[in-house]
Amino acid sequence: MARRKKIYEGKAKTLYEGPEPGTLVQYFKDDATANNAEKHGVIEGKGVLNNRLSEFFMTGLGHIGVPTHFIKRLNMREQLIRAVEIIPLEVIVRNYAAGSMAKRLGMEEGTMLPRPIVEFSYKDDALGDPLVPEEYIIALGWASQQDLDDIVALALRVNDFMSGVMYGVGIKLIDFKIEVGRQFDGDFQRLIVADEISPDSCRLWDMETGQKLDKDVFRRDLGNLADAYTEVARRLGVLPTNT
Ligand code: C5P
Repeated sequence: MARRKKIYEGKAKTLYEGPEPGTLVQYFKDDATANNAEKHGVIEGKGVLNNRLSEFFMTGLGHIGVPTHFIKRLNMREQLIRAVEIIPLEVIVRNYAAGSMAKRLGMEEGTMLPRPIVEFSYKDDALGDPLVPEEYIIALGWASQQDLDDIVALALRVNDFMSGVMYGVGIKLIDFKIEVGRQFDGDFQRLIVADEISPDSCRLWDMETGQKLDKDVFRRDLGNLADAYTEVARRLGVLPTNT
């Protein structure tokens, strides 16, 4: 069998050359890392679940007019995506204080925020993805003010969609991260949602019990990660089958 050319290997996914120019194949691994890869584990089935869940969320976003890199799922672990120029930022949206925000400000996790907060981290593993103010991003030329305004609008649309979908299955969307890519059509630039949207990149709490159904289960040793992701997939009606 012809081997596809590997373009990039990340902590949880690998990108291969796609069948057409302008496309890539995104492969979801079972690897889980936390604390900037200080903690590593292999969670059997995680890649299959995240492939399905990211397909589900990105397809839904497409249906409401939010552009994403997703083209189609190819098999249990792979999806065909549009190649984009990734903006080196982690775009984080928070509805409730948790994680690094709760720690930084001494807030109790789960405190509802008066409005969604969008923040940016610089994507750099060696530096531990530091939080960066908009001023830095613009001054250093990573994105323009217009790009940032468009990214915030995009992130808030994703937040409204994701919050509603999760609410429908009894889950609170505490926060999440997206990555945004530039897609060019001649001189015209379109900003689109890239990477993945899955319980690896969201905080999801059961509305009734507060049970964590996201990667914090692994980060904080709270139980079986695959069981938590399976529960999310089950509630959304997208439990993986053998195709
Ligand atoms: O750790 P922190 O509270 O800043 O994370 C905010 C949100 O962004 C969480 O949902 C977390 O899963 C996600 N995140 C991510 N990848 C990172 C950092 C954070 O998906 N490198």
